Amino acid sequence: MIPIAKPNIGKEEEEAVLEVLRSGMLARGPKTKEFEASFGRYIGTEHAISTSSGTTALHIALLANGIGKDDEVLIPPVTFFATASTVLFCGAKPVFVDIDPDTFNMDVAKVEEAITPNTKAIVPVHMFGQPVDMKPLMEIAEKHDLKIIEDACQSHGAEYDGRKVGTFGGASCFSFYPTKNMVAGEGGMITTDDADLKTECMLLREHGEITHYEHIVLGYNFRMTEIGAAIGGEQLKKLPGFIEKRQANAKRLNEGLGDLKGIQTPKVIDNASHVYYQYIIKVDDFPLNRDELVEFLKSKDIGARPSYPKPLSEQAILRTLGASADCPVARGMLPKMMELPVHPLVSDEDITYIIDTVKVMGGTW
Ligand SMILES: Cc1ncc(COP(=O)(O)O)c(C=O)c1O
Repeated sequence: MIPIAKPNIGKEEEEAVLEVLRSGMLARGPKTKEFEASFGRYIGTEHAISTSSGTTALHIALLANGIGKDDEVLIPPVTFFATASTVLFCGAKPVFVDIDPDTFNMDVAKVEEAITPNTKAIVPVHMFGQPVDMKPLMEIAEKHDLKIIEDACQSHGAEYDGRKVGTFGGASCFSFYPTKNMVAGEGGMITTDDADLKTECMLLREHGEITHYEHIVLGYNFRMTEIGAAIGGEQLKKLPGFIEKRQANAKRLNEGLGDLKGIQTPKVIDNASHVYYQYIIKVDDFPLNRDELVEFLKSKDIGARPSYPKPLSEQAILRTLGASADCPVARGMLPKMMELPVHPLVSDEDITYIIDTVKVMGGTW
């Protein structure tokens, strides 16, 4: 089976982890500091604060931005659950802004109509590896005095207007979960240029401890382990190569499937680079429907799978907890969306095989 995701771990990561194990310094050690410094340099922010996951990064980035009770935070309905749950953890309310049917990202043209006097922040999520159209979004945020907290958990290294995602928000969050473009086992990172925000995030990450056993705010233990940082540090060095291979695989898939009737390959906005965390095709008016195509590809050892089953705006638990807004575009789009393998361990031969196998069903083989 060509897997839909697979961590790309080599000797370098193994050795870095052994070094940590032998050092006896399993938390709060030099690898964590080095990884934070190198990640901040790579993204292009003054500061980077490591965390135990993308979820905990979002949670404390929202808190450090002052998000709290009765505040409303604008998020897209096509994203992972954590984008919404972390808003709720802060006591605030997620308000959904429907997606653009071509990019699957938050439709920036629909943001202003969702703003109320309680709106405090927007969380643009750079979905599947493609940046949100940040320029008009930043203008709206500025006009209405709203914070921007980027959810870049799926888009390490993606660029918009020549800048990496993670440099646009007051704070931005990344995940190093094992399926991501770079991994750390589990782990996350917040990037920011704001020194005060960095201090607040560090306090929230570590029990609000300002000096040894002196606690000034109610913080958590959301630290990254030294082992995770050792893996992450090595992965970061390889990230540009990983991205290049994802983009090369995506280009071949675009060329191979782009003209197939009933298959829409990913559309990329003009001033952005897509890092293809997921290669999403839209299946509409193809000889097989989306689910049939997924099953057919699986029967041929290709690890295709449907995208998210429904918009977050239709998850019962979120509705019960007060998240609101109907998202008809997302509802109509998701049943047609599916993922094809695109990660760096998918070989050129695999890509040829995927294209040929889809084409068999498209009747053009
Ligand atoms: C868009 C998005 N936000 C947040 C997260 C949460 O990250 P983590 O799984 O590291 O907690 C993920 C990861 O799955 C994600 O894809």
